Amino acid sequence: MLMQGKTAIVTGASRGIGAAVAKKLASMGASIAVVYANNRDAAEEICRQCAEEYGVRAASYACDVSDFAQAAETVKLIRRDFGNIHMLVNNAGVTRDGLVAAMGEADFDRVLDVNLKGAFNMIRHCARAFLVAREGAIVNISSVSGLMGNAGQANYSASKAGLIGLTKSVARELASRGVRCNAVAPGFIRTDMTGELNEASNRLAQSIPLGRFGAPEDVAEAVAYLMGADYVTGEVLRVDGGIAM
Ligand code: NAI
Repeated sequence: MLMQGKTAIVTGASRGIGAAVAKKLASMGASIAVVYANNRDAAEEICRQCAEEYGVRAASYACDVSDFAQAAETVKLIRRDFGNIHMLVNNAGVTRDGLVAAMGEADFDRVLDVNLKGAFNMIRHCARAFLVAREGAIVNISSVSGLMGNAGQANYSASKAGLIGLTKSVARELASRGVRCNAVAPGFIRTDMTGELNEASNRLAQSIPLGRFGAPEDVAEAVAYLMGADYVTGEVLRVDGGIAM
């Protein structure tokens, strides 16, 4: 159990990639703080699975990560419940796709607020604890859309590219205190977020060198690797079947 005695916060962990990450880190012995937006039952179910299957402590916290004050309060609560925090996974994300010529201001703002500012908020409120402990690892879930751009996703791609800049700046800023920050850039992963792509998925899959969509567990493996990779910081690890190479 590589992560026994460590605590990980995973945002947006009630389903999809976040849930897979929470379970993967739990399987390695970490205690898990599941941060969720709305679905309390689903978040509690992930906690139950972490506790029953892997014997770790797990608790859920409702929080809109885009809200600076809520993020601060949530980190405070998690520290009260678990003591120190060692890992942070900024996974919470939303899409509001549309062509840029018609995109509403609210759709642009919401995607940036959740995907980019949400990650900043969580890092901002965990950073001091990491610095004092001289230990900590952050993984931000970006996207190949942030590397390549994607028609119909100006807001989403901007937020995910922004996360890469955030990752590298935080990595540089915190490195001297032994705190690392990396990003994972998934390609097409089968989750609720990509559910609506199902009809077009055969055509899409053909454009992926490995010929198929990924699974949430593929992303979770990459997060677990980066959490343990002591000499890796500021990296962006693609988990995309080769689509963005
Ligand atoms: P999902 O929609 O299943 O999960 C997103 C999670 O974020 C949900 O649990 C949702 O409740 C939570 N969330 C949304 N807004 C929130 C807020 N304001 N505060 C707290 N939590 C909030 O999507 P999926 O596919 O699991 O995506 C997870 C991450 O991976 C996202 O950041 C997404 O952009 C990224 N990603 C997903 C890809 C895919 O193909 N599924 C590809 C590349 C990146």
